[in-house]
Amino acid sequence: MNRNQGPVYYGDYLKLNDLCATQKPLSVEGDSFCHDEMLFIVVHQVYELWFKQIIHDMKSIHTIFNQPNVSEKNLGTVLARLERIKKIQGLLLSQLEVMETMTPMDFLEFRDLLIPASGFQSVQFREIEVMMGLSTQNRESVDRDFFLGRLNEADQKRILDLEKLPSLFDLINAWLERLPFTQDKEFNFWNEYQVSVKKLLQGDREHVEKNFAGLSSREKNIQLENIKQTEETFADLFDKEATHTKRLSKQAILNGLFIFLYRDEPIFQIPHMLLTALMDIDENFTTWRYRHAMMAHRMLGTKIGTGGSSGHLYLKRAAENNRVYTDLFDLSTYLVPKTVLPEIPNSLKEKMKI
Ligand code: HEM
Repeated sequence: MNRNQGPVYYGDYLKLNDLCATQKPLSVEGDSFCHDEMLFIVVHQVYELWFKQIIHDMKSIHTIFNQPNVSEKNLGTVLARLERIKKIQGLLLSQLEVMETMTPMDFLEFRDLLIPASGFQSVQFREIEVMMGLSTQNRESVDRDFFLGRLNEADQKRILDLEKLPSLFDLINAWLERLPFTQDKEFNFWNEYQVSVKKLLQGDREHVEKNFAGLSSREKNIQLENIKQTEETFADLFDKEATHTKRLSKQAILNGLFIFLYRDEPIFQIPHMLLTALMDIDENFTTWRYRHAMMAHRMLGTKIGTGGSSGHLYLKRAAENNRVYTDLFDLSTYLVPKTVLPEIPNSLKEKMKI
């Protein structure tokens, strides 16, 4: 442990004089001074500080996962940090309420002074997105050149450099692929499991045919078509030749599924919590994005954003389309009741000491 080298003064340690000298409203003192611009600056700065903490925690998670083997102890550390990120996200969401104590009329007083600056240029927010697995290539709605063009050269470089590294999504995919359960020769799990899922989907089909008497034939067909598509994607999971449309590899999906199905086994409890935490974080970002879009609508109506996008419409689309871990959410399609799950043999349990 490091030793204290001498008396430390609170304000010096936290560099409070520097920190509190960085709020510089563009509206000037006097007649045109806008009282709420201070709130606007402080709220954004607080966000950026929390983004900094999220990046700090995420970097450590990347380091742990970017290894050939991840010990159970390290999985515990990762989980604790993911849980911390979730708590921070709770704060990020509730801070929008503070922002909304500023009325649209108050905002209008200084909005034009900000053009073309926008949260769109928050390089730390982009770093978090990229680290999570949303690269500029697969982001929805905004052309990549436009997107990068809003950032200055140094910030563009930060994002492009980060994109050269594997994202958390890539690392999770590789970690799931490495897990041994789907390759075990003695354990015929997947055959038994496929029979159960087929029975379950057949049950759904019969349910629609028999019990949905009130449905029009068009509605019934939509339901049956959905079931057919589920059956097909499920069959594709086990067919090495079939085209794969998910971002997680087939192997990673099967192993992820195994974790979900056997989450009560002690060995799977932390991996299960970890996958759940990733879904929570993804969902929390989506909730924040959606809530932020509502706030932008309230503040701007249908005006365009200071960053030049279509405003709240762009933000709403981004909320829906910029989700990253949807493949994990989709796994629920293939869950079956515990009663039909085969028992895991002890020999495999031994091998699963990951
Ligand atoms: C009065 C309050 C706010 C309004 C009216 C507003 C409006 C907007 C608009 C219209 C955009 C779309 C880009 C553009 O054309 O400018 C945007 C993007 C963004 N804003 Fe805000 N914003 C506000 C507050 C905040 C706060 C407090 C944060 C916290 C950091 C924030 C973070 C972001 C981020 C990260 C984006 C990029 C989202 C994406 O591309 O998916 N905004 N904002």
